[in-house]
Parts: sequence; C-alpha cells; structure tokens
Amino acid sequence: MIKFFVKTYGCQMNVRDSGLVTALLIKHGHVAVATEQEADLIVINTCSVRGKAEDKALGKLRLMTITKKEFPNRIVGAIGCMVQRLGEDIFDKVPHLDFAIGPNRITSLPGIIDAIQAGQGPICDVGLDKGTEEELSAHSESGISAFVNILFGCNRRCTYCIVPSVRGTEWSRPAESIVNEIKVLADNGIKEVTLLGQSVMAYGKRNEVHPEDYISPNGYIEPLSRLLEAVNNIEGINRIRFTSGHPSGCTIELAKAMRELTAVCAHMHLPVQSGSDSILKRMRRGYTVDEYRAAVARLRNVLPDIAITTDVIVGFPGETEEDFEQTRALMNEIGFNNAFIFKYSTRPSTPAAEWEDNVTDEEKMNRNQILLKDQDERASAISNALIGKNVDILVEGVSSRNKDRWMGRTEANTITVFENDGTVKVGDIIKVHINRATIFTLYGEIVK
Ligand code: 5AD
Ligand code: SF4
Repeated sequence: MIKFFVKTYGCQMNVRDSGLVTALLIKHGHVAVATEQEADLIVINTCSVRGKAEDKALGKLRLMTITKKEFPNRIVGAIGCMVQRLGEDIFDKVPHLDFAIGPNRITSLPGIIDAIQAGQGPICDVGLDKGTEEELSAHSESGISAFVNILFGCNRRCTYCIVPSVRGTEWSRPAESIVNEIKVLADNGIKEVTLLGQSVMAYGKRNEVHPEDYISPNGYIEPLSRLLEAVNNIEGINRIRFTSGHPSGCTIELAKAMRELTAVCAHMHLPVQSGSDSILKRMRRGYTVDEYRAAVARLRNVLPDIAITTDVIVGFPGETEEDFEQTRALMNEIGFNNAFIFKYSTRPSTPAAEWEDNVTDEEKMNRNQILLKDQDERASAISNALIGKNVDILVEGVSSRNKDRWMGRTEANTITVFENDGTVKVGDIIKVHINRATIFTLYGEIVK
C-alpha cells in the first residue's frame, strides 16, 4: 500500500486522466492522500499546450524530485502530454525522476509502480496502445459531477497546436461502453456528466460506435446526437454537457437533440480562436468567420437561450492590429457568455513554429487585457439581465466562500448562490429567483 498524491495541470481531459489514475491506483490497493507532504508517490499530470504550462510542470517535477532527499522512499513521476512530447528526454530535464508515462498509457501506471518498487527504473512508456474499456471506465470521484471520455486524440491539424502530435489520432469509444460507464456513475450518485473529446463533434466519424442494429428512438442519424440520446435516457443523470465543439458539427440535428433531450444543457463551448479570416486560414481552423456565424445562428434558431463560450488566441504570428480588431468585434457580435483568452505560444514542430512569432509579448498582453475587459463587461450585462428572472440550477452544496450559503450552477454553468432553508439537498435541480448579480455569480432565493 502506497500513499499517493496526483497534481494536475492542463485541461478537463487531464482532470479526467488524473481521476482515472486515482481510481486505478486505489483499485490496486493504494491510498489517495490530500497533500503531497503525506505522499510516498507523487504523480504530476503535465500539459504541453503552451510553453508556460510546460514550465510550471517542469518546475514542480524538479521540486518534487529534490524532496526525495528528505523522503528517501518517495517515488516521483510524470504523466500526460509533456511526457509524450519529450519522451526519454524528460529524464535529462528532470534528474531523479522515477517514471514518465504518456497520455495513452496511463492505465499501465499501477504495474509501473510495482516494477519501481521491485527495484526497476527509471521507466518511460510513451506507447500508443490504450488500456481496455474496463480499465478506461474506472472512476473514484465523490460529488455529483464526472468527466467521461468519449473521443481520444485529434485529427485536425490546427497549425499552432501540439495536441494532435501528443494525443495521437482520433478514436471514439463505443457508445455501449460509455453508457455502461455512466450507468455505474449514476448508481453512485453522479447527476451531471461532461462528455470529453478534443474535437467532440467528430465522435463516431472515424470508427463505428453504435451497434449495427441500433435504432435511435428520436430518429437521430449523427453519432453524437445518438450518444446524447442514450445518455439522456440513463436514470439519475439530470445534466449532460459536452466539450469542445467545432462549427462544422453544429448541425440542425444536434441543436434539435440538445433541445429535445431534457438533460442536455443549453450550453456549448465553441472555440473561435480568431475573428479574422486570414488568421483563421493560417491557423487551419477549417472555417471562415461567416461559417462560424452560421453555426451559431443554427444553434440559436433552435435554442434561443443557448450559452456559448469560447477560446481565443491573441498574437498568432502575423496578427495585425486590424485582425485583432476583427476578433474583438466578432466577440462582441456573438456575445459570448464566457471566453478564455490565450497569448500565442510557439510549440515545437507545429507548422506555425516555422513562422516568426512577431507580435511582441507586450502587445500580446495588451490584446489579452482588452479582450478580458470586454468579456467582463459582456458577462456582467448577461448576468444583470437575469435579475428578476428564475433559473434552474443543479445544487452542488455549501458555498466555499460563505458557509451559511449554498451554491449550484445554471445550465450555462454560472455559479448561483442561495440560502438553503433546509429543504434542498445536494444533487437537486431547483428554481432560483435571481435578485443580485456580479460578473461571474448570481444570487437569489429558492422558488417554491
Ligand atoms: N498558444 C496559445 N494558445 C493555444 N491553445 C492551443 N494551442 C495554443 C498555443 N500554441 C489554446 C486554444 C485552445 C485552448 C485549449 O488552448 O485556444 O482552444
Ligand atoms: Fe489538455 Fe492539450 Fe494540455 Fe494535453 S496539451 S493537457 S490535451 S490542454
């Protein structure tokens, strides 16, 4: 039995991978502890998406390996995207590291720990073979929400992005395994699932995912709509989200499925990245600004209140002031509920790395600040517009900021705080009448 601690950098997919690793280690007889001080095994789950993400993970890994002087029995290892990118070279960058496992091979972690305890090491595994469906379905979360992988890898070739080279080619999990996994989660009290894939709308496009004789009760044809339908029918699952989207997948059928399937939230994360056609083309995003607009229009036609969130990169090579202003204007026009703004970071061996990273850091920072400020104003207006209205929230529990209050989230994922008169419990979906709002938080009272 080993006491272990997992530290996660990066996206929701990494959060899920850490959850999977935790579940597999527990199954193997090990025990999760709350702090790294108590741990004999430290696993750092790394991200490669931007240079800063890698620097943070490398810094943490070096720090952790230094603590091996104090804790001689401590095992320290890295998993995730940066391991895949660096391969064995990671051992040069982080001396005394015990293991390094790429994102496809994380199910091999318990076996690798056994081997290290038996005196082997350092061990590197950056193979491409995934674990079995049974291994990949393991969960250990408490609470009411869980992430579920539906699609691994990415076949898009956005010119700035490291992900296709570290996460491999697209592969969709069979719908049956996903449904079985979520049924078990529902039996264990999970109410909300977020279906994950780098480009989730490609679900079922490269490999068969539904049995040949599967007939969609609602008559859906697209694999993602059919999957959403099957998950919607699972008893106890009241909320379904999926991320990340791409305009090409925003079909009328998907929008209708989102409306008809009651558990599916009226929310879509639809990264736009830029509002300039020439930048989008060089990013190789596969859509124009007009095509993005049309995708949003298709969604809003069917679901007028859908919340749309996005990712934007500022300072892509060659981004002019005018390109940037087009992005700014598009964000305003669409009226995103939330936006994550990133400063462009050159990633080794991506096509964009061939181009000069010619927007100064200062200018990137400046553009970043402008978009953040715009977004705050927009988000504030969207929140304020909800004052006097009722929203449906999934109750998560006591608010971390104020123990006298409770909190939950709207379908748009906005935190909503309310006073619990004792009638409401974790996992309920309730109506709250909003009487106050800040940028990211709504405040209100329970509607009886
Ligand atoms: N530089 C900056 N941001 C990036 N992203 C992906 N690659 C890069 C990069 N090289 C952003 C994109 C993506 C999000 C997860 O990270 O906006 O949607
Ligand atoms: Fe997630 Fe991409 Fe970072 Fe990997 S590199 S953890 S896929 S954001």
